[in-house]
Amino acid sequence: MSQSSPDLSQLRREYAQAALSEADVAPDPLTQFDLWLKQALQAGLLEPYAMTLATVDGDGQPSARIVLLRQYDASGYCFFTNYESRKGADLQTNPRAALLFYWDVLERQVRIEGTISKVSAEESEQYYQSRPLGNRLGAWASPQSQVIADRAVLEQAEEKFKGQYDSHPPRPPHWGGYRLTPLVYEFWQGRPSRLHDRIRYRPAVSGSEWLRERLAP
Ligand SMILES: Cc1cc2nc3c(=O)[nH]c(=O)nc-3n(C[C@H](O)[C@H](O)[C@H](O)COP(=O)(O)O)c2cc1C
Repeated sequence: MSQSSPDLSQLRREYAQAALSEADVAPDPLTQFDLWLKQALQAGLLEPYAMTLATVDGDGQPSARIVLLRQYDASGYCFFTNYESRKGADLQTNPRAALLFYWDVLERQVRIEGTISKVSAEESEQYYQSRPLGNRLGAWASPQSQVIADRAVLEQAEEKFKGQYDSHPPRPPHWGGYRLTPLVYEFWQGRPSRLHDRIRYRPAVSGSEWLRERLAP
């Protein structure tokens, strides 16, 4: 049976909801991100805090997956995962990453690039203990990114850890948070005729100010 893609070539949207100018955006990118994320939450988007995380392995091979942003502030952007996963191995070798948010209803994209470090054990502990029990046991049961024989492997591991820890599993040592410290941001607002607005922030050479620059779409 031959298979062909649906004709996607004529599917397109015109973006016309809003504009972004050098004068409108906040002087610092954290304030701008905070404004846009809150607008995405208010707009009722399903999980606007879900972001694509791109990492690169030791051979230079990039890979991307979605993770949930759990906290952000002046120190950076935090997400939680298994330190022994594929992304964990990538970040061990190359502690740089890119984050990407796409908020379709708002016709907006945000790109953030930076360096990665592990959050403190206390922060990982605090967040781990705030998760529902099933998720806490799941962190024990899943050797994330490893090949497993079948689904039963997970279900048996879940049962085993449930028996072992009851409703008080400790945080697995291989599970915790990472924080991305941003070096560059880009805020993208869709505009008509593909002449979109793109504002990039990068640190000024001296001082703690951010430079705001418009990029061609
Ligand atoms: C909406 C959504 C949210 C997710 N959130 C997380 C998360 O916060 N942490 C995580 O480790 N994986 C999360 N995942 C699963 C990852 O996308 C990925 O499958 C997993 O982390 C293994 O990635 P890796 O093998 O590249 O390390 C999420 C997936 C989706 C679709």
